[in-house]
Amino acid sequence: METPREIFLKDYKLPDYYFHTVNLKFSLGEDKTIICSEITVFPREEGTASPLVLDGQDLKLLSIKVNGEELKGEDFHLDSRHLTVLSPPRSNKFTLEIVTEIYPQNNTSLEGLYKSSGNFCTQCEAEGFRKITFYQDRPDIMAIYTCRIEADKTLYPVLLSNGNLIEKGDLEGGRHYAIWEDPFKKPCYLFALVAGQLESRDDTFITRSGRKVSLRIWTPVQDLPKTVHAMYSLKAAMKWDEDVFGLEYDLDLFNIVAVPDFNMGAMENKSLNIFNSKLVLASPETATDADYAAILGVIGHEYFHNWTGNRVTCRDWFQLSLKEGLTVFRDQEFSSDMGSRTVKRIADVSKLRTYQFPQDAGPMSHPVRPHSYIKMDNFYTVTVYEKGAEVVRMYKTLLGSHGFRKGMDLYFKRHDGQAVTCEDFFAAMCDANGANLSNFLLWYSQAGTPLFKVTSSYDAESKAYSLKFSQEVPPTPGQPVKEPMFIPVALGLLNSKGKDIPLSSVYHEGMLQSIEKNGEPVYTTVLQVKKKEEEFVFSDISERPIPSLLRGYSAPVRLESDLTDSDLFFLLAHDSDEFNRWEAGQVLARKLMLSLVADYQQNKSLVLNPKFVHGIKSILCDLSLDKEFIAKAITLPGEGEIMDMMEVADPDAVHAVRSFIRKQLASELKAELLSTVQNNRSSESYVFNHPNMARRALKNVALAYLASLEDTEFTELALHEYKSATNLTEQFAALAAIAQNPGKTREEVLGDFYSKWQDDFLVVNKWFALQAMSDIPGNVENVGKLLKHPAFDMRNPNKVYSLIGGFCGSPVNFHAKDGSGYKFMGEIVVQLDKINPRVASRMVSAFSRWRRYDQTRQSLAKAQLEMIMSTNGLSENVFEIASKSLA
Ligand code: PHE
Ligand code: ZN
Repeated sequence: METPREIFLKDYKLPDYYFHTVNLKFSLGEDKTIICSEITVFPREEGTASPLVLDGQDLKLLSIKVNGEELKGEDFHLDSRHLTVLSPPRSNKFTLEIVTEIYPQNNTSLEGLYKSSGNFCTQCEAEGFRKITFYQDRPDIMAIYTCRIEADKTLYPVLLSNGNLIEKGDLEGGRHYAIWEDPFKKPCYLFALVAGQLESRDDTFITRSGRKVSLRIWTPVQDLPKTVHAMYSLKAAMKWDEDVFGLEYDLDLFNIVAVPDFNMGAMENKSLNIFNSKLVLASPETATDADYAAILGVIGHEYFHNWTGNRVTCRDWFQLSLKEGLTVFRDQEFSSDMGSRTVKRIADVSKLRTYQFPQDAGPMSHPVRPHSYIKMDNFYTVTVYEKGAEVVRMYKTLLGSHGFRKGMDLYFKRHDGQAVTCEDFFAAMCDANGANLSNFLLWYSQAGTPLFKVTSSYDAESKAYSLKFSQEVPPTPGQPVKEPMFIPVALGLLNSKGKDIPLSSVYHEGMLQSIEKNGEPVYTTVLQVKKKEEEFVFSDISERPIPSLLRGYSAPVRLESDLTDSDLFFLLAHDSDEFNRWEAGQVLARKLMLSLVADYQQNKSLVLNPKFVHGIKSILCDLSLDKEFIAKAITLPGEGEIMDMMEVADPDAVHAVRSFIRKQLASELKAELLSTVQNNRSSESYVFNHPNMARRALKNVALAYLASLEDTEFTELALHEYKSATNLTEQFAALAAIAQNPGKTREEVLGDFYSKWQDDFLVVNKWFALQAMSDIPGNVENVGKLLKHPAFDMRNPNKVYSLIGGFCGSPVNFHAKDGSGYKFMGEIVVQLDKINPRVASRMVSAFSRWRRYDQTRQSLAKAQLEMIMSTNGLSENVFEIASKSLA
């Protein structure tokens, strides 16, 4: 195998040729598909002598013509990755016609044109279009497309592509055709085609300027009843984007197609979004609240891409966060506005901590805008997406809502129809506000989570309260030395009654800055910390305050403060910033868990601090609080988060401690938890709204606590909840509560659940995941058996993510000290790589932080990575992750 080539941002060059129009003709068939592509090409500089290099992979070239003339062998060069027209005409415009043959029925990579459940569909981002035809497959090549699709009419009655349907008709031999025209120019990664047996749920949306848009959600006929929530979500998203950003839809038709085989969540192809069916289909009986919320968020996300991604796209793939960070931010805000802002923020920050922090601290650490990649597919990461969204959020924190909106407006005004960079976004934000955000751009170029330390002091005599900040950005691969970042610190100060102190002014670098706004007091201010060390002194503070720092989590950093436990308990009880109330509880829990882990490692008996039990109890019993907030606040930080804070990660100790605390809390708060379950049962049929979801969330958390006690009374209770549930949210939570504990009941209920739902593959996937994630000792064997289960299929990514990805979600089993988990995963990765490299490389990532563990585990995990690396014909995807992990 040739060593894969690394691609660098610094090597970006403008293309020598642009494409103006692209005319595609697909003739879809059972054993081959033929694609004719007719492109008008014009050089960037007239008279250029440069060859025209086209990308192409796994294509059979049937013919190539320039200006109507067939090229001869000496006029072009063909290798396994490129087709080069050696000396194109030196005119200001020429046409290129290429005919290729491909075999979608054999395409298991699910990139390019492939088949899913008998239907044809495409996935072109990032570089899948080159598996359809030869093309300059890069996002700065934007063109106007027409697409003619021809196929058997009975097998593929529905033929879809981007834009508007302009013609359709019947052909000989039982075939038919449709011609689609997209009036907006776009990069090829937004091209899409679908052909198959599908039915649609139809609706309309009238935009605020009066455009009537047809909305269609396509699925196999039997799934149509499950698209009600997706349609609701789409309409809500369209309205929200008008209300919040003034952005309207720009065509008369918007299609969504749900397919069961899809590598990712969904794809924002212009006017033809293609979705993983798990993010479209929902009914109360077959989808949980989490699924409903995910559908709302992702339907929103893909729809929002129409402006942030499609109308304004990326110059090159290094700029991916330009569209993804921004669009994630937009979908987060949308979900916040549709539900509870605090709860959504808590969920997003937890996700960042659970997945992005470890990535940022490991061998795959990369900046929000990476400097290089081997395979772009590997950079659809939590760093580009979630940390990227935090970067966008910081603009808003710094510029205010109004300033942020002005920046967005200018961004569209300047760049509609263009392929641009993160600097362009930054410039729009600054210019629209006359703001100087100095070194803010470092957020795009420096990897690693900054460690941000705060110490405070109070001088009663001068009534001065000082906060000293210091920051350190840890070294990451290729970036040994870092510069200080621009950290917006939203903060408030609490008095001894727990009320916010009005802030009037602050001393900084010898200057007194006023904080008041139009004479009105301010309770939360945003400090701009830009240096390695910096001090701010608040004046006129009449008693020692308790600081509420990084309100709403105003910057993606690890905060270390000198707050005492009693300060934290105080914040937990009183902070006006609800996010920080939750945060105070988490900081306390993390401290507690770490100290118990140390006790466990020294064979000391574990004792739970009664103050902690009391803190949890008062949250649980506070009727004034939002129920989902309570559910989140009484949930302990995940095992990964705690392992992340240890010198040497010890999965067994962390698991033992977390289980101990859970059981201890359950046994001390039995009565409260029981009444929580009893008082929060469903009385009406399923409704998707915040109060109902919050109620179910709280009930389910309480039930899980109780069931952890392995007490017959509570097992019976969980069984009762399981049997009486009228929706999957409660039924599945009861199943999960029971399945925590090994034994006969567990097996029976799991069996019952499968027999109930065996015909619904999305529900069966949850059943796989639940068992795969189990912490039951020696679970690897069970997961091995499930691999052979008739419902499992290695070619379907959802099934792989549920069963194999799920298994990596149990640290005790994946990191089993005998190496059985590593061996299992190593073998799977090799097998999977031959089927679908993109999915395999996601799985191999589970190994990437192997150096965090003890010697024994290190050598066992390393051996698997080396085994993977030595495999013949390894994909570039897996090569990149495995080799960087070993480096
Ligand atoms: N662009 C998609 C999104 O974030 C994600 C995706 C990437 C889907 C690559 C498929 C392939 O909305
Ligand atoms: Zn996206």
